[in-house]
Parts: sequence; structure tokens; C-alpha cells
Amino acid sequence: MPLLVLLLFLGLGGLLPAATAADEQFVFDGFKGANLTLDGMATVTPDGLLLLTNATKQLKGHAFYPAPLRFHRTPNGTAMRSFSTAFVIGIIGAYEDLSSHGMAFVVAKSRNFTSALPGQFLGLVSSATNGNATNHLFAVEFDTILNSEFSDMSGNHVGIDVNGLNSVDADNAGYYDDATGAFRNMSLVSRKAMQVWVDFDGPTMQVNVSMAPLEVARPRKPLLSTTVNLSSVIDGDTAYVGFSSASGILFCRHYVLGWSFNMDGAAPALNISSLPTLPVTFPKPRSKTLEIVLPIASAALVFAVGAAVFAFLRRRRMYAEVKEEWEATFGPHRFSYKDLYHATDGFSDERLLGIGGFGRVYRGVLASKVEVAVKKVAHGSRQGMREFVAEVVSIGRLRHRNLVQLLGYCRRKGELLLVYDYMPNGSLDKYLYDRSKIPLSWGQRFRVIKGVASGLLYLHEDWEQVVVHRDIKASNVLLDKEMNGRLGDFGLARLYDHGTDPHTTHVVGTMGYMAPELGHTGKASKASDVFAFGAFMLEVACGRKPVVQDARDNRLVLVDWVLERWRAGVVTDTVDPRLAGDFVGSEASLVLRLGLLCSHPLPGARPGMRQVVQYLDGDVPLPELSPTYQGLNMLALMQDQGFDPYIMSFPMTSMGASTISDLSGGR
Ligand SMILES: Nc1ncnc2c1ncn2[C@@H]1O[C@H](COP(=O)(O)OP(=O)(O)OP(=O)(O)O)[C@@H](O)[C@H]1O
Ligand SMILES: *[C@@H]1O[C@H](CO)[C@@H](O)[C@H](O)[C@H]1NC(C)=O
Ligand SMILES: *[C@@H]1O[C@H](CO)[C@@H](O)[C@H](O)[C@H]1NC(C)=O
Ligand SMILES: *[C@@H]1O[C@H](CO)[C@@H](O)[C@H](O)[C@H]1NC(C)=O
Ligand SMILES: *[C@@H]1O[C@H](CO)[C@@H](O)[C@H](O)[C@H]1NC(C)=O
Ligand SMILES: *[C@@H]1O[C@H](CO)[C@@H](O)[C@H](O)[C@H]1NC(C)=O
Ligand SMILES: *[C@@H]1O[C@H](CO)[C@@H](O)[C@H](O)[C@H]1NC(C)=O
Ligand SMILES: *[C@@H]1O[C@H](CO)[C@@H](O)[C@H](O)[C@H]1NC(C)=O
Ligand SMILES: *[C@@H]1O[C@H](CO)[C@@H](O)[C@H](O)[C@H]1NC(C)=O
Ligand SMILES: *[C@@H]1O[C@H](CO)[C@@H](O)[C@H](O)[C@H]1NC(C)=O
Repeated sequence: MPLLVLLLFLGLGGLLPAATAADEQFVFDGFKGANLTLDGMATVTPDGLLLLTNATKQLKGHAFYPAPLRFHRTPNGTAMRSFSTAFVIGIIGAYEDLSSHGMAFVVAKSRNFTSALPGQFLGLVSSATNGNATNHLFAVEFDTILNSEFSDMSGNHVGIDVNGLNSVDADNAGYYDDATGAFRNMSLVSRKAMQVWVDFDGPTMQVNVSMAPLEVARPRKPLLSTTVNLSSVIDGDTAYVGFSSASGILFCRHYVLGWSFNMDGAAPALNISSLPTLPVTFPKPRSKTLEIVLPIASAALVFAVGAAVFAFLRRRRMYAEVKEEWEATFGPHRFSYKDLYHATDGFSDERLLGIGGFGRVYRGVLASKVEVAVKKVAHGSRQGMREFVAEVVSIGRLRHRNLVQLLGYCRRKGELLLVYDYMPNGSLDKYLYDRSKIPLSWGQRFRVIKGVASGLLYLHEDWEQVVVHRDIKASNVLLDKEMNGRLGDFGLARLYDHGTDPHTTHVVGTMGYMAPELGHTGKASKASDVFAFGAFMLEVACGRKPVVQDARDNRLVLVDWVLERWRAGVVTDTVDPRLAGDFVGSEASLVLRLGLLCSHPLPGARPGMRQVVQYLDGDVPLPELSPTYQGLNMLALMQDQGFDPYIMSFPMTSMGASTISDLSGGR
């Protein structure tokens, strides 16, 4: 019965929101049955919420009022009309204080945002078009991530944008209290609905933006007040009004609950009490059947017990030094600094396993007697760190027998500690180059190559998301107690940014493993990983670094040498002399030829990891190397493509500090 009443009520409610007065004034108290033009992820939920982004990563969503509106007093004239709008938004991120990337109210000449990018671009522009006057775009952004590329002021700000994301005016989200005049902070990602007012005065070109929690009336003093010459931004006759949003790599939902708009007059007030409500993010206790079956008293009891358990779990989580609620819910564990400090004997030098490009690595023994490797990564930017931790948490869910498992992490001021499975046999490069170690047998090498290939295949193809490793090399391959090769350091390779611009991602890699196209585009891809894997295979088979400098300062590029031997028909001559001829010829020839195939200068000509694994398993015969290999010279090619091995190769590979990553800069 109550359900019926509810349905009836909602059904009638759907008829209420309607556009009026010559399409230049409208009110949507909820969007049920609203006539909007939606694209991308945007939908109207059955409750009447306008959902701009669902929980899918790296997509855009737009919603526009279907009819274009006239913003100029006279067609093509410079005098502008005034407009006023009020709307209620809500952002539900994965975590209570973290969401990506924000949303915007938009006035735009065109509704075609196909070339705009998701993520930090909010589905409005791309890095190529950001700020270009041909965008004809005015927006008020609600930005939840600090992006230094747009000179953002904070990870929780409201900005007035003209043609791009570098705001002409911005301030932290909040409002001025009418009674005291004091500024009150608001959190955009608080999962609470908030009301926003945007007013533009045509004669003075003044824009005011205010916001407030739903229970607070419109503040008298606006949050932002500036002048924008909209006359040139919205040129021509008409423009569209609506909303834009986009997701990044984090789960997030951006909602609009209600919206009103008016030309040449104040926007009609929204009826707050009739707006749909934001969904609750955690499931409510499922007590419906209980209520029917059991007397109300026991239902109440169940609820009370549930509430007590919930409160207890919350409390326990609080004790576990968890700053963000989400950290306990999935992914790897968050360690306390105290535990890691004790586990590593206070990060003592005796426990130091090695120093890599990102920081020191220590051996640790947890209270549970589990051996771990703790990597200390220094990091300055707090905002970049937050996002990075979220990525690490997501990466921590990767599980494969040929990946070094990330067990957890700990966050401290300016420092991130990553806790990995301990690999008793250390990194592969020691076995290849350290003369004091017994060299690996051919069988062991072949097994390591196959293992790493299957780990990389998992990252590329088999996980829910493409993960490009970006830094495959012998020192990033660790050996477990059975001497299986396991790929490490993928925690530091950023998740592949689908669709984002090459200029926003920095080149990561080590000379000799870096595909030639990286010199041009700087964009790491699955194909550039395959290139590095090719160099790695040759390295393991030949026992030599991809680029070597000999005593007389000549640089030898391993691929060129193997290629030359292959042309001479004696490719297995290049196999590591330390094996003293003790290897399986067919396997060695396969590995070397496949290494060459993967090292092809053209990314499109390289095989995918699935094929590589099939070739290595002997399931599919390796194709003959194409004739384009005749006359190929990688050294010349690298120099052509902007790499100068003369400068880059030796000092950098030997220092092991050649990795440049987003980590160092923060975002
Ligand atoms: N999980 C682990 N188990 C055992 N030893 C490890 C582990 N991780 C790293 N190490 C050791 O610590 C050393 C430094 O590792 P790290 O990955 O930081 O440096 P890298 O791979 O040489 O350089 P880069 O950071 O530039 O990739 C490695 O050479 C290895 O010997
Ligand atoms: C989100 O929207 C996209 C695009 O419309 C769709 O493909 C996807 O299935 C949606 N995801 C969810 C969880 O609704
Ligand atoms: C939606 O609005 C557009 C533009 O005003 C109009 O052409 C279209 O017929 C409307 N659609 C519906 C279903 O009302
Ligand atoms: C306004 O300018 C556009 C482009 O310059 C032109 O196509 C259009 O005809 C003009 N409209 C009027 C009413 O002059
Ligand atoms: C939208 O713009 C893109 C180029 O940015 C163009 O290829 C496409 O045809 C346009 N779509 C429409 C419907 O105009
Ligand atoms: C702006 O965009 C136009 C057309 O897309 C292009 O011709 C022009 O070069 C761009 N200007 C800048 C400064 O990028
Ligand atoms: C409001 O938030 C900003 C940015 O997070 C912070 O610098 C400022 O101290 C906060 N102000 C108050 C009064 O909490
Ligand atoms: C903007 O706010 C100021 C200060 O409250 C006010 O004087 C002005 O009229 C407002 N302008 C608009 C366009 O609402
Ligand atoms: C605004 O821009 C228009 C068109 O570019 C120009 O004619 C006008 O003078 C500008 N107004 C102000 C106040 O700068
Ligand atoms: C607001 O909505 C409520 C519930 O739908 C309704 O009872 C009330 O009359 C509305 N108020 C106004 C001013 O329309």
C-alpha cells in the first residue's frame, strides 16, 4: 500500500516539471520526464536525478537544455542579455574525501564535445583546445582535483572558466555567512547536495557565483564576482546551456538534482523539498521481510544491533589509523608506520636491499613473521599523493604469480611506503652481471622470460583495465624462492590514461628499453612495453645490457649486434658465453628472433603480448622476420628519433636513476 501511494506521488511529480514562457525560463525540480539532450554517460535515473557520470572510468557526460537560447539583445550584436540560473548538485566519489574530477555548468555555442577529453578536462576541452577562443565556451567548474597544468588553486574549488580550464576567477568551495560575514568551507565531494546560483548581468558583464548547503538560504555576498565579456565568447545568435562532467580513474558519480533558468530575470526558486534525494552510498539494512514477518519490536532490535555493529566497525576502523574510510574496504592493506618501523629495525642500513630510482628498499619482517620488502618513496605534493595512493590501491588488486604482489602501503607526510612480497633471490640483473653469482642456466632463463611474458600479458590484456608497465628491465624483474621471474615496480607505472593527451604523461623508461616512438610522442603504450620486453629477452639470452659502452668508448646496441649475427645466419652466437654452449638451440633461437621482432622500430609491427606468449609456448610458430630488418640499424634510428645514446645511455643505465616519473613532480 505505501508503495502504491509512493508510485502515484512520483508519477504525478513527473508531470510537474515543465518548461514555460517561450522556452527562456524553465524549472526542473527533479528531471523526471524532462526533455534534455544527453550524451556520453549522462542519464536521468528513475528517481529523477540527472546523473552525468556513472561509475565508469574515463568517460564524459553532458546534458543540455534542448533548445538553443538567445544571449544577445540583437542577433550578432555586442549587447548581452542578462541570465540567471540556480541548480543543485551532488558528487559521490569512491571515498569520502576524494573524487575525480568534477563537473561544470556550461554555456556553449556548440553541443558537440566529441573532441573534448574526460578526466581533468571535465569533458569540456582537450589539451589541444584548452583556452582557444574558438571554443566559445563559458563554464562554472566545480573542481575536485588540483591540476597544476590549469593552475588550479586547490582540490576543492569553484572557478569561472572562459574557453578553457584555466579559471579567470576561482575560490575554495564555500560561502559567506550572512549573519557574521565569515567564510564557511564546503566540501564538493562531501556526498551532500548543494545549491549554486550563477547570475550574469548583461549591461555590466558581471558574473556572480554563490553556493550554499541546501538548508542555507542564498548568501547575500557571492563567492565569486568578476566581469567576463561574454559578448565575444558567446558570439553569433544563440548558445546552449547545460552541464558537463567526466570521470577519471576513480569511481565517481556526478548528479544534478534540480535546475532553473531565466533570461532577463531572476531564476525561479527551486522547490528544495520536492527535489529527488541523492542515493545513500552504503546499502541500507535489508529489513523489509523482517518487518513483515516479525513484530515491530524485533525489527527495531535487529536494526539496533545492526547500528551497533556498524558503529563498532566504524570505531575499529578509526583505531586502525585509517584516515579515509575507503582504505579498509578493498585493495591492499594500510600498514601503520609503527609496524613497518619495527619490521625493518627502524629502517636500518643492515636491512637495506637496494636503492632504486624512487627510493630505498628495505627488508622487513612483520609481527606475523611474514617477510616483506618496504620501498620508501619520498613525495612532496599532498594532492598528487592522494591520487597516487588511490592508484596504488587499485593496482594492489592485481594478482598474478609473475607479478610482485603489493601487500599494502603506509602514508606519511611527504612519504609513501609501499610494502611488497619479499623476493628472497633479489633482482634478475644481479644474476646476469654479478660475477660472484652462479650464472642462471638456460632453462632458468627461459622460464623467467616466459613468466615475465605471462605477467605482462596479464597487465595488458587480462585485467579489467589496461595497465602499461612503462619500465620493464632486468632490474625490475625479481626472483622468488623457486627462481620464478616476477615483474615488479608496476605500482609506480601509472594506470594507462585512456584518451588523455600525450603531453600530460611524462616519459618513463630506461635507455635501451625505450621504444623509438617514445622520443616523438612521449606516450607509453602496450607496444612500447613490448619493445622493452624485446630488449629484456635479448638481455637475458645474451647476458648483456641493451646499450653497452666498450673500453674504447664505442657504443654497442645489443639489438644491432644480434641483428647482424642473425643476418649472418648464426644468431645463437650471441647467447651468453657464461653458459659455455649449454643451451637448447631451438629455444635460444626462438627467444633471440622474437626479441628482434619485438624490437621493431614501428610499433604496429610488434606482436602483442598474447602472441608473444603463444610463440614462447610453441603454440604458434614464429613468423619469419620481415625483410625490413635488412639494413636496419637501431643506433642510427634512435639518433634519428631524437634519442642520443651518446649522452643518455651509459651514465643513466649505470646509475639506475634514469626513471623519470609523474611521482617526482606530482600533479
Ligand atoms: N620485493 C623485493 N624483494 C626483494 N628485493 C627487492 C624487492 N624489491 C626491490 N628489491 C631490491 O631493491 C633494489 C632496488 O629496487 P628498486 O625497484 O627500487 O630499484 P630498481 O628497480 O633498480 O630501479 P627503479 O626504481 O629505477 O626501477 C632492487 O635491485 C632489488 O635488489
Ligand atoms: C555508464 O555509462 C556508459 C555509457 O553510457 C555505459 O556503457 C556503462 O554501462 C554505464 N555503466 C554503469 C555502471 O551504469
Ligand atoms: C524536446 O525539445 C526539443 C526542442 O525544444 C523539441 O524539438 C522536442 O520535440 C522535444 N521533445 C519532447 C519529447 O518533448
Ligand atoms: C550572425 O553572424 C553569422 C556568422 O557571421 C551569420 O551567419 C548570421 O547570418 C548572422 N545573423 C544575423 C541575423 O545577422
Ligand atoms: C563533432 O565534432 C567532430 C570533430 O570535433 C566531428 O568529427 C563530428 O562530425 C561532429 N559531430 C556533429 C554531430 O556535428
Ligand atoms: C584554435 O583553434 C583553431 C581551430 O580549431 C586553430 O586554427 C588555431 O590554431 C587554434 N589556436 C591556438 C592558439 O591553438
Ligand atoms: C577552508 O579550506 C581551505 C582549503 O582546504 C583551507 O586552506 C582553509 O584553512 C579552510 N578554512 C577554514 C575556515 O576551515
Ligand atoms: C553581484 O553581487 C554584488 C554584490 O552582492 C551585487 O552588487 C551585484 O548586483 C551582483 N551582480 C549580479 C549580476 O547579480
Ligand atoms: C566585448 O567584446 C566585444 C566583441 O569582441 C567588443 O566589441 C566589446 O567592445 C567588448 N566589451 C568590453 C566592455 O570590453
Ligand atoms: C514544494 O514541493 C512540495 C512537495 O512536492 C509541495 O508540497 C509544495 O507545495 C511545493 N512548494 C511550492 C512553493 O511549490
